[in-house]
Amino acid sequence: LLHQDTYLVSGELKKWKGETSNIYSTISSTKEYKPTLLGSIPNQGREEALEVLESACSAYDKGQGLWPTMKVSDRIKCMETFVELMKTKREEVVKLLMWEIGKNLPDSEKEFDRTVDYIYDTIEDYKQMDRDSAKFRKSDGIYAHIRRGPLGVVLCLGPYNYPLNETFCLLIPALIMGNTAIFKPAKHGVLLIAPLMEAFQKSFPKGVVNIIFGRGRAVASPIMESGKVDVLALIGNSTSANALQTIHPKKNRLRLVLGLEAKNPAIVLPDADLDLAIDECIAGTLSFNGQRCTALKVLYVHKDIVDEFNNRFAKRVDALKFGNPWEPGVKLTPLPEKDKPAYIKELIDDALEQGAKIINDKGGEITDNYIYPAVLYPVNKNMRVFKEEQFGPVIPVLPFTKIEEPLDDMAESNYGQQVSIFGKDVKRLAPLIDTLVNLVCRVNLNSSCQRGPDVYPFTGRKDSAFSTLSVHDALRSFSIRTFVASKDN
Ligand code: G3H
Repeated sequence: LLHQDTYLVSGELKKWKGETSNIYSTISSTKEYKPTLLGSIPNQGREEALEVLESACSAYDKGQGLWPTMKVSDRIKCMETFVELMKTKREEVVKLLMWEIGKNLPDSEKEFDRTVDYIYDTIEDYKQMDRDSAKFRKSDGIYAHIRRGPLGVVLCLGPYNYPLNETFCLLIPALIMGNTAIFKPAKHGVLLIAPLMEAFQKSFPKGVVNIIFGRGRAVASPIMESGKVDVLALIGNSTSANALQTIHPKKNRLRLVLGLEAKNPAIVLPDADLDLAIDECIAGTLSFNGQRCTALKVLYVHKDIVDEFNNRFAKRVDALKFGNPWEPGVKLTPLPEKDKPAYIKELIDDALEQGAKIINDKGGEITDNYIYPAVLYPVNKNMRVFKEEQFGPVIPVLPFTKIEEPLDDMAESNYGQQVSIFGKDVKRLAPLIDTLVNLVCRVNLNSSCQRGPDVYPFTGRKDSAFSTLSVHDALRSFSIRTFVASKDN
């Protein structure tokens, strides 16, 4: 077990008395993926939250601390030390990803490796930024040495579906730019931080990285209420983001870096390659059981092909293998949120009451903490499954006749992250794409929605995001342009 009072104020493992080896022995001796006590986390509160805040503020020291004033090359060395140490913990972290959130083995390995790549790419981009800032500009007799500087103290809150990767997509760029950070691991996917605590401790000066455990509101609220946080970086839901930014007493000084909800549609046109569209819609709707902000959450299929699409799609869904996350070929795994099957069932029942049918044989079957994906057809706009971000295994299919129907729904939606469009006729697609890019931030042609590759901008319109994350953009999201002006070169 992790000790009740364990947490990290970087440079010090405060009250660190526990260790994690019994987590791995529990894992090794348990053959079936079922609710199992792997460890416990400290239920920290206001007192500890203010302690980590104080630690981050002292290390930043209003921009005069060791970390924000450190030479770029030295900050890079700290980050390189961290990533090298992190790589030695791959096996432990991958196991914990499978056990804590039920992510299957290939996706858990991918999450770890992608995070390592993200750190290396961030280091390279930061080096390039530093080389660019060494150049002088001259305008009207004034030379300017333009560079980017840190913003201050960053509070990072990551989501349970990518507890390592998306937390680090906030934390790593924030740190390398010279900010100090407090981060709270996600509710599910919290133990996997334990094997990395020592790496943080050995790599960064005291107070630069500060980890707090506990319930979100209990620890994040006092931190935000203090008014000492300069950046709120959150990937999760807009209710939490709104609540936390509202209680900051100096909202105008707060920068937001937010990745929030989405209801990404797929639009399948009558001339689509159906094999391809079905493959992509299966991956888009059901990878990690649909628990991705980028998942396809509603399928619009042209009425001329909807029957054939539904028949083939439903069979493919029923052929997906459900099982333990580490078993070869397993695509569907138990859900970490114990209330999720009941919520998904509510959405299904509401749709059935309003005239939809479950069109796949296994749809809606419940086994412990899993509900088998239900494909619902025909869905209409009054149904909850159309209106809510299901974030789980239920797939609404809507028939459409005119392209204006899905386009109007997208225009009216509160969300605007991505869309997938399936069709072959370039003359029909080209003008459509010009409209779609004004409704969302990424249009996927004949492919499902996704965040990566991580060098591409990841953002959204309306309630889906604020600021942009990618290797390149995140460095800008966590910094401000500053310059030194001089009349002499
Ligand atoms: O949950 C939201 C993530 O950003 C999804 O990322 O498309 O790489 O799975 P992904």
